[in-house]
Amino acid sequence: MTDQTTTYAGPERVFSGVQPTGALHLGNYLGALKKFVALQADHECVYCVVDLHAITVTQDPSALAQQTREIVAAFLACGLDPKKSIIFAQSSVLAHTELAWYFNCVARMGWLERMTQFKDKAGKDAERSSVGLFDYPVLQAADILAYKATHVPVGEDQKQHLELSRDIADKFNRDFNAPNFFPLPEPLIKGPGARIMSLKDGTKKMSKSDPSDLSRINLIDDADAITKKFKKAKTDMLGDMPEDEAGLKGRPEVENLVGIYAALAGADTQTVLDEFGGKGFGTFKPALAELAVSHLSPITTRMRDYLNDPAEIDRVLKDGGARADAIARPIMEEVREIIGFWQG
Ligand code: TYM
Repeated sequence: MTDQTTTYAGPERVFSGVQPTGALHLGNYLGALKKFVALQADHECVYCVVDLHAITVTQDPSALAQQTREIVAAFLACGLDPKKSIIFAQSSVLAHTELAWYFNCVARMGWLERMTQFKDKAGKDAERSSVGLFDYPVLQAADILAYKATHVPVGEDQKQHLELSRDIADKFNRDFNAPNFFPLPEPLIKGPGARIMSLKDGTKKMSKSDPSDLSRINLIDDADAITKKFKKAKTDMLGDMPEDEAGLKGRPEVENLVGIYAALAGADTQTVLDEFGGKGFGTFKPALAELAVSHLSPITTRMRDYLNDPAEIDRVLKDGGARADAIARPIMEEVREIIGFWQG
């Protein structure tokens, strides 16, 4: 991996997080989880279930812990190995909230006011949103930097939050005259899976919160549901599959389906078009469904098995929490010293 923007001399470390707010979908898998698994082969990886982020909107206290376990089940089912990767719950390591406060005093109001995700989520009702929802990206910066993480695999929708994390790291380093103390974390976004769109509207991203279940493929969908959803996926009346990438212009739904195929197959878009260009959707959609089922069914089965063994999930979380804390604790001691707090 490259690190072009900083002279930070510490070790490379990967960090990412997923919210425990509902069933994971194909966008989460292709934009994030698939990359998490690939990275663990040759990097130190820290993967977090971000339950503190989840409570920026109301959560049911009787369901939250189980939602956290479900994300861990998905992590393990996708192939994360808890011996290699650190898997833990954000609320179990106190460094996140502590560093978020320090970063609140570094980040500027104007920076946060530019965050499009807050505007999208808060909508017209910004006045009634929690302060936490507004502050969400500062906590995200704290997540990453509490571990001095250098690389962050995420989907395209997190790009602006990652830029903010870099700005916060840079301002902290300057404000406290601590050159290169925090790395400027690099987002790992590239690839055809970085922005998976709704199956019902190629201009909207695939999302947990879309009221239509037909808009997304959930990781817990069975083969029949996956096949049905791809069959019903919106296309257009502009003819068969195009032969080349230029032919995808102005065809967002088709572009999305080709992107999904490419991401699942580990191929590039043109390779997919070489195979399916000139063919009808009656040929392409069943092939896409078959490919998705072959990828996702083993994951779904494993996920169900893990969910039947909550004690094992709890062991993973506990062990991961201790290992995460062991990395963050000395970093936080340094941060307190740099800020100049009294230390008895
Ligand atoms: P969350 O839980 O919304 O999503 C988890 C991951 O899935 C990616 N993703 C997508 N990728 C491609 N296409 C889509 N349609 C799609 N939808 C979601 C997201 O980009 C993300 O990588 N703020 C983060 C969680 C977070 C975090 C962090 C991430 C908190 N702290 C620190 C990285 C580092 C979020 O809400 O993800």
